[in-house]
Amino acid sequence: MSLAGTVSLAQPYQMDIDLSQKGAPIQSTQYGIFFEDINFAADGGLYAELVKNRSFEFPSNPFQGWKVFGNVAVLDDGPFDRNPHYVRLSDPGHPHRWTGLENEGFFGIGVKAGEEYRFSVWSRVPEGGFSKLHVEIVNPASMEEDHALCEGDLVVNGSEWKLYELILKPKVTLDKSALRVFLDGKRVATDLEHVSLFPVDTWKGHRNGLRKDLAQALADLHPGIFRFPGGCIVEGTEVSSRYDWKNSVGPVENRPLNSNRWQYCFPYRLYPDYCQSYGLGFFEFFQLSEEIGSEPLPIVSCGLACQFQNDGESAHVPVDDLGPYIQDALDLIEFANGPVTSEWGKVRADMGHPEPFNLKYIGVGNEQWGTLYTERLEPFVKAIRKAYPDIKIVGSSGPGSEGEQFDFLWPEMRRIGVDLVDEHFYRPYEWFLSQGARYDNYDRKGPKVFAGEYACHARGMKWNHAYAALLEAAFMTGIERNADVVHMATYAPLFAHVEGWQWRPDLIWFDNLRSFRTASWQVQSLYGRFRGANTLTLKMSGANVTGAEGQGGLFASAVSDGSKIYVKVANTSPEVRELTFNFTGLKKKDVIRAVEGVRLDCSERLAENSLDDPQRISPVPFTFSGEGKSLSATIPALSFSVFVLEH
Ligand code: AHR
Repeated sequence: MSLAGTVSLAQPYQMDIDLSQKGAPIQSTQYGIFFEDINFAADGGLYAELVKNRSFEFPSNPFQGWKVFGNVAVLDDGPFDRNPHYVRLSDPGHPHRWTGLENEGFFGIGVKAGEEYRFSVWSRVPEGGFSKLHVEIVNPASMEEDHALCEGDLVVNGSEWKLYELILKPKVTLDKSALRVFLDGKRVATDLEHVSLFPVDTWKGHRNGLRKDLAQALADLHPGIFRFPGGCIVEGTEVSSRYDWKNSVGPVENRPLNSNRWQYCFPYRLYPDYCQSYGLGFFEFFQLSEEIGSEPLPIVSCGLACQFQNDGESAHVPVDDLGPYIQDALDLIEFANGPVTSEWGKVRADMGHPEPFNLKYIGVGNEQWGTLYTERLEPFVKAIRKAYPDIKIVGSSGPGSEGEQFDFLWPEMRRIGVDLVDEHFYRPYEWFLSQGARYDNYDRKGPKVFAGEYACHARGMKWNHAYAALLEAAFMTGIERNADVVHMATYAPLFAHVEGWQWRPDLIWFDNLRSFRTASWQVQSLYGRFRGANTLTLKMSGANVTGAEGQGGLFASAVSDGSKIYVKVANTSPEVRELTFNFTGLKKKDVIRAVEGVRLDCSERLAENSLDDPQRISPVPFTFSGEGKSLSATIPALSFSVFVLEH
């Protein structure tokens, strides 16, 4: 039977697909997402707040991100005990002068013409009576007579702290505007705290919400698992700067600011204004997981500060003092699942979600290693098992994809009895090309694998180019084939601001108004879309198709989904490959029908998507027709194809 494609005289590669029995179920968690506040992924990114340092808490300078003019003072006995700073605007001393402040946002404030923005502020008139604030979104670089894109007034009334709001509607679209607040009217001294500006149109319309295009880019992946909040950020440079989930819930005004290790982690890319507001915290994470149909997978600190940044034991919590940290993990499970009558279940309910979030997984520690890790992990596992026997626990295999720590940790994870082991591999081309069979011989009895952070790059080519995405697609055929042992896989990192990145490559890039999905995103999306229900055995001359010698640079896997079959083929060679799919295990009269094909062309190896050309590397349908027990196809060089068939 012949199918559309170029005519070639080369001997076709034969792929045998056995339909006599269904293989392992593909887990609903098989493909997912990994979120960490790196590259301005949270504040300045997915979290839609447009004001930087809204509570004047940045540690090096309470006015970081602000320009102040006239008579402005910082005070520290504000209404929110965990964010105590606020500002007092007072009479500038002359009727022709002004008092006020201007916020620069995150690399500017992006606004769209005609859209609504909610300005809000906690305010009071300390001496009582009334005062007037004038609020503007401005273009400081404008050549117009007037800087304002839109403006409005607020009357502040009385000496009690109250929340004031104003809707602003800019006349023009601008990616780098600023927010100005002036003391107006009689210039009566006025206090301001938690100065905020949000688009009204957030993802699902939530206040304190998420940027719509970025959340949509996650939803469109149909991720089965959602890991949060990292990454190294879980650990902290010191234990005190670890991600303490309890600081990320409750009223947003009183979530204490934390530093962000990605501010200073790479001295060649310093971001002195990068902190964590925790505005996108654990409630928002659970809520988003629910809304996009993912199982949430929180990772908690195991009492180890980042081991890359700290030698020896003194930086870490002694094993005997782990009690409060273990309690934090248990409390997090209670926050997610506990009844509204429980302490943390009530906090969740008070935030607007009385129903449980049905948390099923928790990870303890990020990239930890050595006995420092295992002796801390053990008491966590014991306590979680005792209190929540149904929760599945993820342990770590360290930062490397192989090597001494990896070899030490895997048996240790078995001994301790975690359910899944987190593996990380940010690796070059050669590694991905050599790992097609990585999981074929893994122990089937031990813990399952969570490929928790991975991405392909090349020396000097750490951007999201087509060839790297193709090699990820090739590698993922091995994940799919081994769905009985690899239960989760999440590419990392997830987001990057084009003006604020520390780490490349990343799945989704954005500026203040636009975003684009990389070639790697397209690969993840194809796996999510054609996930299937069960593996099928696919062989070439009796061997798995893993890019091994003699296999022509081909990597392949197949799954079934009811009457549908999805065959994924990555051709990593620079040659066109002729293929014949032979279906065995069919009843005599049964035939297989081709339905459709979708292909990612990666032949321009270094091509990439960008803000200006977001679709350059995107899957396109190709004609795939015919029926029989054998179907043939032509696979273009450097491409990833999904063949959809039915029987
Ligand atoms: O994804 C970026 C970093 O890579 C993560 O924080 C860490 O876990 C890994 O080293």
